Formats: sequence, structure tokens, C-alpha cells
Amino acid sequence: MCGREDRIAELQPEVSQALADYRLPETLGFGVEMAPVMYRSEYYDGEWKSGDLLPFADVSVNPASTALQFGQQCFEGMKAYQVESDHPMLFRPNLNFRRFQKSARRLCMPEVPSALFAEALSSIANAMQPHMPGGPGQSLYLRPTLFGLDPQFAVKSSERFAFLVLASPSDAYYADPIRVMVERDDCRAAVGGTGAEKVGGNYGASLLATERCIQKGFHQSLWLDPKRRCNIEELSAMNFMAVVDGALRTPELSGSILDGVTRDSLLEIARHSGIDAKDTDIPIDEILQAIESGRCSEAFACGTGAIVCPISAIGESNGKEYPLPEVNQMASTLRRALLDIQECRAPDPFDWVIDSQNSQVLAEYLEK
Ligand code: COI
Repeated sequence: MCGREDRIAELQPEVSQALADYRLPETLGFGVEMAPVMYRSEYYDGEWKSGDLLPFADVSVNPASTALQFGQQCFEGMKAYQVESDHPMLFRPNLNFRRFQKSARRLCMPEVPSALFAEALSSIANAMQPHMPGGPGQSLYLRPTLFGLDPQFAVKSSERFAFLVLASPSDAYYADPIRVMVERDDCRAAVGGTGAEKVGGNYGASLLATERCIQKGFHQSLWLDPKRRCNIEELSAMNFMAVVDGALRTPELSGSILDGVTRDSLLEIARHSGIDAKDTDIPIDEILQAIESGRCSEAFACGTGAIVCPISAIGESNGKEYPLPEVNQMASTLRRALLDIQECRAPDPFDWVIDSQNSQVLAEYLEK
């Protein structure tokens, strides 16, 4: 079977109905519009059980579960793209898969096998194919999620887990350039903690600072290293990049920041186009001075949700601001190059784009 009608015919009637009833809204935003279906599988008795596509709905979670009590949870952010072909394409899903496994291990949860991860991505992306948004920067955002189910108040891992893949037809995270505020008090993640894994606790720990920076007219906090509060780490939901003396710089992977797929892809694309691009220590005070002297011409955020999002100013909580001399010069070039590969308008010299239709082929790609 390979046609769209055949695929829908294979689905449970309530899933087919949910898909048939679904209409894409005119405005999407990021991560607020939920797809009408989700994938679910469970782990118990020491093994993963086969999963299913289900109508999107609340899930029943025991209030004493380790997920709710201790944050035994991790997730991924990835995207499926509407392209000329009649099935959605995925971008570097092997990196998301690898990071999901790493996050699962760190939170003492069982790894999801590549065949199950591939089956989940393939089912939901292809079921949503008729509803894929295709506007500029739009995609089907996918959110694999893993969490502990057992109820217990002792600090101990669950033995039962749920694996879900949720989806959200989405725009880019921000439509316009953002203003970021240096966070000099709190830190997002500790050395030896979970900052390099994609776990909810990292994002939970950023919420208060984000509220504070929004109250001061900014969009995102710019986090510093947890030990000395000296080097830039990342933003609350994205990695950070700057153009200094014409070269692309991003904070090196310190162990407490996320190894972003977009971050890695932009570094590779930049190098491939002959741009001097490297990850290194970026002391905040040096970058602020470099903005004032004009040596730092540009800064931007990058991430799966954000794609590439220009930064118009970096500010301090005391009101001092450092407007960036250029907004969206190198950022727009890199954004276009990235989207052209993701949306299959340009050759893919890195072999980053993979068809979501055949879950066996996808499972092999995940192991790369
Ligand atoms: C992403 O960019 O995919 C993320 O997961 C960051 C944020 C939306 C949580």
C-alpha cells in the first residue's frame, strides 16, 4: 500500500475520522495548534510494546507518577516538511533520535528502539500529510516525549513508561527579530546536571527568568555558564550565534548546553560556503564590548522551532542596551540555505533529508 487513501484505510476508524474532520486554522503560531492524532506506546515487563496512532486527547497520568513527582521525562523537537513529493520529509532525525536516547539514559529511562521511533514518526507524519502546512517557514513540528508512569513517593525510577509522539502544525517560533536579556543571577543548568539533555526540568528552570525578561520588554533570557557566569551558554529555547569580525561564532558545547541540531547544521552549512565558523568560549563582556566597537555586527538565535531568528538587541536588567549594528545579514543567508535543504529546493550535499514514508528505511537512517 502506498497511496494516501490506502494509508488512511489502514487506520483505526476513530483516527481516520479525527483526520477527516481536521481543518488547518488560518493562523498557526508555534506549538499551539495540536494535530488531531498522536502516537503512543508503553514499556512494561522489561520491553517496549507495539504502539498505535490514536486521536489526540488528554492522557491519564497517575498524580503520584515519577514523571509528575520527579520530572522523570524527556522530549525532542523535530520537524516534518511538506515538499513536492506526496510524503513528508524529515531533517536529520538521526540526531534527534541519538539525543533522545541520551536524555532517556540520563533520566534512567529505557531507550526507545530505532524501529519504534521510526514507526512513530512515519505514522504520524504520513497521517498528517493532507494537513501539512506549506507556507514559508511552516512545518509539522514533532514532539517525541518519554515519561515514567509508576506512582511512588520514594525517589526511585519507574518501571513503566509511556512514549508519545505529538505533532503541531506550526510557524517558526518568532516571526520578527527578538531582543534578549542577559541573565546574571539564575542559571539554567548545572555542571554535571542535565543541561545537555533535552529534559523538561531545564526549560522549567528558565521560566521565571523568561517572565522577568518579558516584563522588561525582551523575549528570551541569554544564559551564562553556571560556574563563573562569564561565558554565554544559550537562550532559553534556542542556541546563540554571533558574527564577530565577519566570522561565525557560537558557544562551544560546555556540557550544560544543548547540542542543537540547527546549531550543528548552520556550522556545517557556513563552513561548506567558506565562512569561518567555529564554536568557542564567548565571554559576555567581550561580546558586549565588541557590539559597542562594531566588531560584533550581528547575533541570532537558532533552533528547530526558531529556525534562524535575528537578535536586534542584547540588554541588561539595569536598562543598558546594546543594539546590534546589523540585523539579519548572515542570519538570512544561513536561514535560506537551511530551509532550501529542509524543503528540498536545493541539493542536499550532507544527506540530511530523509523520506518519512518507509519506516524500515527510516529506522536504518536513525542508526547513522
Ligand atoms: C525546539 O526548538 O525544537 C525546541 O525544542 C525548543 C523549545 C521549543 C522547547
